[in-house]
Amino acid sequence: MAVAKVTEKVEMKFSVVGKSVIRVDAKEKVKGKAKFIGDMYIHGMLHGKILRSKYPHARILKIDVSEAEKIDGVVAIVTAKDIPGQNIVPLIISDEPFLAADRALYYGEPIAAVAAISEEIAEYALSLIKVDYEPLPPLLNMMEAIKPDAQKLHPYGNVVSSYRIIKGNIEVGFKEADIIVEHDYTTRHQEHAYLEPQGMLAIPNPDESITVYGSMQCPYYVQNAVSAVLGIPRHKVRIIQTTTGGAFGGKEDVPSRIAGITALLAYKAKRPVKLIYKRDEDIIATSKRHPAIVKYKSGVTKDGKLVAIKVEMYYDAGAYATLSPAVLWRGILHSTGPYKCPNVLVEAYAIATNKVPNGAFRGFGEPQVVFAHESQMDQLAEKLGMDPAEFRLKNILDVGDETATGQVLEDIGLRETLLKAISMANWKQKRELYANQSGRYRKGIGISCAFYGVSLGASGKKLDGSGAIVQVTPDGKVVIAVGTTEMGQGMKTVLTQIAAEEFGLSMDDVYLLDTDTGVVPDSGPTVASRATLMSGNAIRDACAKIKPNLLVIASKLLSEDPEYLKFENGYIVSTKDEDKRVSFKDVASEGYMERLQLAATGWYKATPTSFDKETGQGNAYITYSYATHISEVIVDTVTGKVKPIRVVAVHDSGKIVNPVLAEGQVHGGVVQGIGYALMEELIEENGIIKNANFTDYLIPTSMDVPDIDVAFVETHYREGPYGIKGLGEVPLLAHPPSIINAIYNATGARLYELPATPERVYFAIKKVRK
Ligand code: MOS
Repeated sequence: MAVAKVTEKVEMKFSVVGKSVIRVDAKEKVKGKAKFIGDMYIHGMLHGKILRSKYPHARILKIDVSEAEKIDGVVAIVTAKDIPGQNIVPLIISDEPFLAADRALYYGEPIAAVAAISEEIAEYALSLIKVDYEPLPPLLNMMEAIKPDAQKLHPYGNVVSSYRIIKGNIEVGFKEADIIVEHDYTTRHQEHAYLEPQGMLAIPNPDESITVYGSMQCPYYVQNAVSAVLGIPRHKVRIIQTTTGGAFGGKEDVPSRIAGITALLAYKAKRPVKLIYKRDEDIIATSKRHPAIVKYKSGVTKDGKLVAIKVEMYYDAGAYATLSPAVLWRGILHSTGPYKCPNVLVEAYAIATNKVPNGAFRGFGEPQVVFAHESQMDQLAEKLGMDPAEFRLKNILDVGDETATGQVLEDIGLRETLLKAISMANWKQKRELYANQSGRYRKGIGISCAFYGVSLGASGKKLDGSGAIVQVTPDGKVVIAVGTTEMGQGMKTVLTQIAAEEFGLSMDDVYLLDTDTGVVPDSGPTVASRATLMSGNAIRDACAKIKPNLLVIASKLLSEDPEYLKFENGYIVSTKDEDKRVSFKDVASEGYMERLQLAATGWYKATPTSFDKETGQGNAYITYSYATHISEVIVDTVTGKVKPIRVVAVHDSGKIVNPVLAEGQVHGGVVQGIGYALMEELIEENGIIKNANFTDYLIPTSMDVPDIDVAFVETHYREGPYGIKGLGEVPLLAHPPSIINAIYNATGARLYELPATPERVYFAIKKVRK
């Protein structure tokens, strides 16, 4: 496979940053030695199991645990009544209980939990717990749930959250338009399908504090949740993240509820309890990507300028608010795409239904609208008689342009990503080549562009600070700790690179600890493609506090002014005379002799952001990343099966710390994007998920992966460490519409609903051939 091409825009010299060093956790993972939460055993440990609602909507009249309690080996059973603290998972809108008390709002909702000496006994005990339900009619259609006369699931009604963006004058905009395209777009659930299911191990300590190990993205959310459920302050709750086998947003808020229940069991049993989800319960009872209906209307002048965009967004929140307000906010912020448009009106709603609560999934509310705006762009281009890439080039955001929220952009490499992708994919030749085809198998090529607000932005700004602890040891090595987490994306490696770069050391000289709330202050969640930027800056801040003390020592040892000293290849070297050098190790050792402080806490606080709830105007995000994806597909017009054959993905995520890891991020996003576009579909019947396994819920395998060519355009974000922005989520959100547009190019059939399964493609083709 081709190694990613990198175009540097700001010349900086690096020794470790920008190099494709091997992942720091590669060996342990390849050898199967990494310890996931399922691998952990503690003396006296019990096994936890959760009893789940049998109905998508029911009153809980009575829970009788007396028979279950009699079983040998059952140590503790908990229901809502056993909660010493608050029975509400703390998040944006507090409406979700740890254990359902008098009503269950979705199929699979936790009602009670058992801790026993074995999983089998715990499972058996569950079967003996008697729950008297009064089933209620479930609210399963969000468009019904939003009607004023619908039954109300929450005291606040069924509208969990709503936002709008108003810019210019939409009426005037559509009057100016010569061509208008209007369509509804439907998307469905997407399951995270992380390899490692959810799991926690809670250990009550003799001093009445508690330690919880587990698979998670957001240890401080978990700390807050355990503190809430047990009614003990946060300094008595220590959360340590274990090796996490994938998350993709699915371990953002969900682990809070699981850790709460596990901690409750451990507290009552006064013994350690481990609780691991089985795959089917993980699929049934944990968050997914929000199903959405996006109603889109856009207008252009005949010379190809976007003048009006009107969008209505409806996102199915599921039973509880969880992260829906934040997901919806990110969705609306990106709803007009990375394009200039003077007149915008967007209204967005997240609506409660009796389904599993939907939450964070890589892209966080964006893939739904990217599918819509990129489908619109292609249809507008066609009506104009313009090439879709040319049409995008005419309308994309450039330096100095304004987003729909009125934010003026600085570091923006979108045009370069587009131009580069067009050339790498031989776009023009392929479009011509595929214009006239006949026969059963047709090839097509499609393009899509996207932008992504890096980090939490104005809706989550209170969480947008991050810390790091850096210590230089007496033998001249470096230990670092950060508050963000590794979940497979490569954070440990890139942050180790940053610390090594700062001290002029090699990767082996730096060790990054597992994330532990007892070590680093609350650094916000590990989401929103923010870890490298936020923790990277925090590490640099800490290093900057330690370096002067190291230089004091080196200066003394070398008789050189600190101003003329630099950190290089394990030495501190004079810039005037390269032979004047002392090893980092000797300086560190001497530093300890002199009792100087060679450890520090670093902190980074994101630059200010703003959002006016009335108008939707403001500087919503600190900066944005950009991408252009081009897909080529072969469509079997007889069966409707689509096979992606080639992908070109060009990204502007600022400075790239590790090109191979970054390329891996893009590959992963492309593959998840293929799943979202073509195959992933949960089957629900009366609110019950029927295909909670990987036999019937199809995700791409290695056989489905096309050739992928990746390139990076490195614009410089002045606040990022070395110009870094963020990459994690962008590849997935940018990808699906490139496939949908390629299907259209191949067949003339346009899909308005995801996934484009063979059935849907078949019927779409049949419709246009009639
Ligand atoms: Mo991520 S989807 O922002 O956890």
